[in-house]
Order: sequence, then C-alpha cells, then structure tokens
Amino acid sequence: MKLCVALLAGDGIGPEVTAQAVAVLEAVCRSRSHQLEIASGLIGAAAIRAAGDPLPPETLTLAKSSGAVLLGAVGHPEFDALPPEKRPEKGLLRLRKELHVFANLRPAICFQALESFSPLRPEIVHGTNLLLVRELTGGLYYGTPRGISQENGEPRAVNTMAYSRSEIERIARMGFKLARGRKKRVVSVDKANVLENSQLWRETVTQLGAAEFPDVQLEHMLVDSCAMQIIQNPRRFDVVVTENLFGDILSDEAAVLTGSIGMLPSASLGEHTGLYEPVHGSAPDIAGKGIANPIGTILSAAMMLRHSFGLEQEAAAVEAAVTKVIDSGLRPKDLQGSASTEELGKAVLQAL
Ligand code: IPM
Ligand code: MG
Repeated sequence: MKLCVALLAGDGIGPEVTAQAVAVLEAVCRSRSHQLEIASGLIGAAAIRAAGDPLPPETLTLAKSSGAVLLGAVGHPEFDALPPEKRPEKGLLRLRKELHVFANLRPAICFQALESFSPLRPEIVHGTNLLLVRELTGGLYYGTPRGISQENGEPRAVNTMAYSRSEIERIARMGFKLARGRKKRVVSVDKANVLENSQLWRETVTQLGAAEFPDVQLEHMLVDSCAMQIIQNPRRFDVVVTENLFGDILSDEAAVLTGSIGMLPSASLGEHTGLYEPVHGSAPDIAGKGIANPIGTILSAAMMLRHSFGLEQEAAAVEAAVTKVIDSGLRPKDLQGSASTEELGKAVLQAL
C-alpha cells in the first residue's frame, strides 16, 4: 500500500516529537512492505515567520492532496499579544475547517504502569479508557457574528455558538458508531438547562440514537456535572460526545488524569484527509531541549494507520510497542524520568 503523509511539524516541541513518530511510521512501512511518502509543510509561528501566514496556500494544497496529515503543535509566546486572527493557532483552526475534519477523537487511556502518576488515587483512575469525541469545525470557535466593537463608549466582544441539526447529527453518528466497537455507551454532553444551542443538541442526539442506534445506551450530562464526574469516577465513561469548546476543556481534563498529557494522541476525521496530532501543545519552555515526550505523537501516528489507511494490525503493533516501552520503566521528564525524546523513540522502534 502507498501512504502519502503531509508532515506539518509546526512550533516548539513539534519538530522533535514528529521526528520520532516519522521514524516509527518508516519502520512499520518498511517491515510490512508499504510505500511511505512524506512531504513537509509549514504551519503556525514557523509559517508566519517564513511566509507571513500561519497556513500558507502551499501547506493547504499539500494537506488536501495527502492521505493524512501528521501535525506536531502550533503556538509561540512571541505572538501572544496579537488578536486571534493573526496568531499561529489560526493556522490550525483554518486547517481543521478546510479539511472538514468535524470529529476529533481523543482517547484517554490510563496505562497500568502509570497509574501512580495520575493526580487521582490509583484506585480511582485504574481501568480508565474513555474516548472523547469532540465536534471540531463548529460552535463558538467558528460561529458568526464575532469580533470586538465599540458600543456606548466601551469595547464589547461577541462570539456565537451555532450548530445546525445536520452538524450535530454527523458528530453524534460518529460517536454512536465508535461506541458500537467499544462498550456501547454514549454520554452526550451539553448545557441544555441554559443554552438553546444545547437544547437542539440534546433533542437531535436523542432522536438519532433512537432511530439508528437503539443498541447503544445513551445518557445526557450537563457539562459542569461531566467535568466533576470525570474526576470522581472516570471509569464510568465509555464514549463522550460533545461540542467544540466543551470538548476542548474536557479533553485536557481527561488527558491529565491519565498521568501526563504528553502521552495522549488525537485523530481528527472528516470526509477525506485525516489530521493527527498529539493533544499537548507546543511547550515552548522545553522546546529544543530534547526532553519532550514523543509518545502522544507516536500514538497519533498509530491512529493514522488505523483510521486513514485501514492498517489495523500495524496500528495495534505500534500501540503494543508503546505499552512495552512504558512497562519497561523508561520514563520521559513529564513522568518524572530522564529518558530523552530520542531514547523513547528508539525504544519504541526496538520494541516494534
Ligand atoms: C486543542 C488546542 C487548540 C484548540 C488550540 C491550539 C487552538 O487547545 O487542540 O485542544 O483550542 O482546539
Ligand atoms: Mg485544547
């Protein structure tokens, strides 16, 4: 099989962690006789510096013409004072929109060997395996009208949370389908006691579940209560489906309870090209030091093999190799160890 992958390393630790994931992809493809073609493009602060645009047209063309995109991270403090429109993050937000990747899958799985690293007691976090399915191309992130204007002599800022029924249906359908391959339980998260938007969300998910997924158990939960229950009893969750901003917040919460956000991968799926990135950010404070944890990116590459290329065995082999490395006791700095980015990458290759 031929795999065409666009590599957008981005900012901060992005280049360091994606280098290790690329090495893993190369090894997998070599050993199973797949042909891997990787082409690099600029995104984020790196692209602003080089081309004055966080998502230059060439990068977008490259991404759209690839089978999948592997992304490191975007963001740099140098641009913190700029309005959202001009920041590195805008490149990522536009890329998501342009690729129509409306479903962001963020698994939060607690490795048994890492239970003691969770801020929660091991007996609470033990066995956690939840899949957060975040809507990624709608809601407050993209709704209009938006902006800051002057009104009655003072600035006034507006953002809009908008979802159509079809947007809700497609993300809910994704959640239900994924649940069918798991424990068949979906928790749909909203704020239906306050927001009309959430009322439509709840009604739509309920109808879709009854019509198309009667075999999947559906529960509705308010976002504030969900935030609490993820901490109180993470094991009770299987698939969590929610809108963009709620998902952004809950996925960081779910990530950290597994020990370190550095471990967690994500897949963003739509109609064509999938986008794969670790859940962590660009971490400018440790960039260039060679100590970033590459596991989140390596596991994102595994998700790419599974979801974009249908290579389930290869994906499972990478995941098994990562588990083996973790079980061996090798730890990066974010898990109180001293293994470098490269050492961890090499160990995964060895285990493969
Ligand atoms: C994430 C990040 C992004 C988001 C930022 C970098 C724009 O926090 O992927 O969760 O808010 O979606
Ligand atoms: Mg986030």
